[in-house]
Amino acid sequence: MRDFTYYAPTKVAFGRDAVERTGALVREFGGTKALVVYGGGSAVRSGLLDRVCACLEAEGIGYVTLGGVKPNPRLGLALEGIGLARKEGVDFLLPVGGGSVIDTAKCISYGLANEGDVWDFYAGKRKASAGMPIGAVLTIAAAGSEMSNSSVITKEEGMIKRGYSSDFGRCRFAVMDPQLTMTLPAYQTASGCVDIIMHTMERYFTKEPDTMLTDQLAEGLIRTVMENARVLMREPDNYNARAQVMWAGSLAHNGLLGCGMAEDWASHQLEHELSASYDVAHGAGLAAVWGSWARYVMAEKPERFAQYAVNVMGVALGADDPAVMAEKGIRATEQFFREIGMPTNIRELGIELSDEEIEELARKCSNDGVRIVGGFKRIDRADMVKIYHMARG
Ligand code: NZQ
Ligand code: ZN
Repeated sequence: MRDFTYYAPTKVAFGRDAVERTGALVREFGGTKALVVYGGGSAVRSGLLDRVCACLEAEGIGYVTLGGVKPNPRLGLALEGIGLARKEGVDFLLPVGGGSVIDTAKCISYGLANEGDVWDFYAGKRKASAGMPIGAVLTIAAAGSEMSNSSVITKEEGMIKRGYSSDFGRCRFAVMDPQLTMTLPAYQTASGCVDIIMHTMERYFTKEPDTMLTDQLAEGLIRTVMENARVLMREPDNYNARAQVMWAGSLAHNGLLGCGMAEDWASHQLEHELSASYDVAHGAGLAAVWGSWARYVMAEKPERFAQYAVNVMGVALGADDPAVMAEKGIRATEQFFREIGMPTNIRELGIELSDEEIEELARKCSNDGVRIVGGFKRIDRADMVKIYHMARG
């Protein structure tokens, strides 16, 4: 087990009608004028935005709004938000939405609190030294941005999608009412469930020994999400299933399941190029590449995949050699993805990749051949090409 620092400072207001606490929470964390950030309209249609604004008014907190955040959020809108917030004298950021909306608010926060070009942080050129306070009202259980230290933004020029992680971007509070997620289309619910599972797996697939507690937390979390994802495909209004998945989404990505582990994240990097170039839902993109990644890296430590197969996917512990058990676990996971309507290869995502397009994805993912990703197995540009080929379908 590795040494670690665990830091999860976000205050969580969880449960039915937790939204009503939003204004008081903004006040508690010092906000006097908020920039309310939202997406393409779901929060308007559901009446959530009006409820949030009414809460702010009840607390005497001023606000301005910025809508139009797209999934796989773009730098341009964040820059617009930085300008608007400066002009309006905003001192608090209040995203109302999912990962894309929260990540846009994080980018705005860095832009407001630091001099210079905010993209520098995402390009890895320098680090932020401050952030304007953020509190989130979450509407989809998926990215985990409400408790994570990361944000992922796409720069329109070249469609480059990059993440930046900093504790200055962590939300001061997160309002999580599982009822808010009941309006999600089934595809988004399923895609979110995959993302939650993948945030757990990216940490779980490690060669680090002696990680029993974190392993068991991770295994339990994945089983919980799989079971409740199946329930939600039949009963989208099931409060308990919504609640289990929503809380799992935060715990999967707030650092808890990384404690003591050596993390991987190759599947995420491979996926980010897909969603940057083809604008697919992030979780669906992960489902499309994961099986190929798993088969490509499995030989590094088949016992780890065999443990996953038994403890998570319920594969019987037999006399099989670990590689056989591992393959059974990967297949069972792909079967689960199909059950909830998720793809298991890139063709099923609706993308027909040519050889040239695969080369281009690998070029971008490897930063022109200089970036190596992954921890379970180090993945370079040539490996990326092979995995994309396997995942092409
Ligand atoms: O824009 P609106 O109209 O709100 O519609 C959204 C959007 O189309 C819709 N939606 C959200 N809540 C809804 C709803 N529709 C009906 N009812 C509701 N209650 O869902 C769609 C997807 O929203 P989005 O915010 O994009 O989803 P998600 O939370 O999956 O975020 C994905 C983004 O987060 C990044 C991804 O790469 C992607 O850009 N990630 C961020 C991470 C982080 N900050 O820690 C980690 C992740 O690994 C991920 O990379
Ligand atoms: Zn993710």
